[in-house]
Amino acid sequence: MKKTLIERDKSLIWHPFSNTLDDITVIKRGEGAYLYDESDRRYVDLISSWWVNIHGHGNKTIANKIYEQALALEHVVFAGFTHEPAIELCDGLKQILPTQYSKFFFSDNGSTALEVSLKMAYQYWSNRGEPNRTLFLSFDGGYHGDTFGGMSIGVKSGFHDTFSSFLFKVLTIPYPATWTGDDEVESKEQNALSVLDSHLMNHGTEIAAIVLEPLIQGASGMRICRAQFINEVVKRLHQQNILVIFDEVMTGFGRTGTDFAMSQLSVEPDFLCIAKGLTGGFLPLSLTVTNDKIFDLVVSSNAHYAFPHGHSYTANPIACAAAIASLELFKSSRTQEALIAINEAHHHGIQTLVDRCHNICNTRILGTIGAFEITTLQHSTAELRKIFLKEGLILRPLGHTVYILPPYCIDPNELKKVYHQLSNILNAL
Ligand SMILES: Cc1ncc(COP(=O)(O)O)c(C=O)c1O
Repeated sequence: MKKTLIERDKSLIWHPFSNTLDDITVIKRGEGAYLYDESDRRYVDLISSWWVNIHGHGNKTIANKIYEQALALEHVVFAGFTHEPAIELCDGLKQILPTQYSKFFFSDNGSTALEVSLKMAYQYWSNRGEPNRTLFLSFDGGYHGDTFGGMSIGVKSGFHDTFSSFLFKVLTIPYPATWTGDDEVESKEQNALSVLDSHLMNHGTEIAAIVLEPLIQGASGMRICRAQFINEVVKRLHQQNILVIFDEVMTGFGRTGTDFAMSQLSVEPDFLCIAKGLTGGFLPLSLTVTNDKIFDLVVSSNAHYAFPHGHSYTANPIACAAAIASLELFKSSRTQEALIAINEAHHHGIQTLVDRCHNICNTRILGTIGAFEITTLQHSTAELRKIFLKEGLILRPLGHTVYILPPYCIDPNELKKVYHQLSNILNAL
């Protein structure tokens, strides 16, 4: 008898962040905020397919751009060659970024965008005659990908403990996570700043850079911090000339309500890492964006020197074409209005939960992200995922935290309905 797709999958495929007990669902097609399984059952994609899909599934504008580009030029080695889609994309991004950002280095995913920034930061100090700056700073709970560099700076994310003996040394700072009605936020921030100060006092001349997710840590549970705290951290680091790397892999392209999370801050990093929403969720592509100060010292000060990093698919033209289309859609008034409408729907929905459920706390909303914690959790996250899926909702709780991070094309009324549905599910837990 012919095996089902799930049976064939189970015998062949090793899935990410999954164990053999996890259920697998075959998805056949996607349209807007919805995904459909083999029997055409509809699910609302409330996590934008791991935070990448900003304009919805099956977006025709992006799909057509991809088709046209594939016919014209599918790929060319990016060392010694270039192409219009890469140039046009960087030009377009430059227009929505602060003026200092002038140099764009391509790679394929969020983790490698971070790796590149770490290598550039260290190379900068080495070329400046300070090769002893081998330390990086990061926050407890920060997640920056699964490569060895990403795991090292994300050492306190809890995701990679098995590999701790392979990781390079990182100094960590407590993260002052906050939520609506939190009256301890100031003392948490003071504590974090005093740990930062002591690292700076004891190791200031050995630190190359800090890496942080501005305004919200994603993978550690959609943990929000205040803009004024990040401003203060960056100010202290820049006073000591320490480089600052913003990991906007998740927060870029409107996720926090503005173009980038840094648009809500009064400080600017030396490196900006972007990925996920860059191609609207169609193809893997990422960028490490920096300025002339870094570029001039790392590369152009020595015409014979080349920054030692690159991938076979660096700046793939089809991915660049998808990103150009996605950027145009992102800048449209329709998307900008959607960001506001989704934020309003989150406020409405979280209020519904607060009014109807006794088992939630620590609610928080940032831009297009809504999150809360379940207080009486007797279910594993895998069980919760299953319960939600049964109700047609694709959600991936992070520990006790449930978050909703939809594509921007979602109908705000659908989102409100989802919250109502969630309140029934939570009450029945
Ligand atoms: C903030 C942040 N940085 C880096 C990464 C790694 O990105 P990727 O999964 O594309 O390697 C992620 C992934 O979730 C992320 O959320």
